Amino acid sequence: MSPHIKISPSLLAADFAHLADSITAIEEAGADEIHFDVMDGNFVPNITIGIPVLEAIRPLTKLPIDVHMMVVEPARYAREFAVAGGDIFTIHAEACDDLEASLCDTRAAGMIGGVSLKPDTPASAIQPILPLIERVLVMTVEPGFGGQPFMPEMLRKITELRDMARTAGTDLEIAVDGGIKVDTAGEAINAGATTLVSGTGVFNFPGGMKTGIEAIRNAGS
Ligand code: DX5
Ligand code: ZN
Repeated sequence: MSPHIKISPSLLAADFAHLADSITAIEEAGADEIHFDVMDGNFVPNITIGIPVLEAIRPLTKLPIDVHMMVVEPARYAREFAVAGGDIFTIHAEACDDLEASLCDTRAAGMIGGVSLKPDTPASAIQPILPLIERVLVMTVEPGFGGQPFMPEMLRKITELRDMARTAGTDLEIAVDGGIKVDTAGEAINAGATTLVSGTGVFNFPGGMKTGIEAIRNAGS
């Protein structure tokens, strides 16, 4: 049986002046989780939202919130993001001096640990600690901005990660982030992704978010 494909709308594409309305709308539209992009202006050349915004939105939804930390040494903030309501804490392999210790800190704070890989980082970067990782986030654009085009050359990395996990006999949730829309989601799903982050692909879908979420979820063969 094919796995349930989870859709994680990225709030970066929401209307920040009416964030509460956007959150209610994506929950009603059938989203499985919420993707919350945190950027520090250092790991990536952009600055977005952080702990006070997470605290403000937490009471508005029951959906799990995935905090995508595009931040240098993100584990410094694990406890604060956990207290603010994060469920999944996705940290970049490239941003951590000691990835294993950073994952331990994430779990100690009570969150699921995700590891994100920038386009230039190979799947092999996480092979040594694969059994410690519950979820991987393959960046299919350079992190930093929404609305960029999907990089099809990342499809091979998705499949490599799926095969690595199978060989190791470990459960690994594979998520993808960047340029995921109806016309790119199918390839990502067929390559092995089971969670699809989508910002502009969901929020700007011409037929509305419910139709967009369903179309992206069902885009695989
Ligand atoms: C980019 C962020 C993404 C972004 C995706 O660095 O990590 O989550 O919001 O936006 P779309 O889906 O529009 O490419
Ligand atoms: Zn993201």
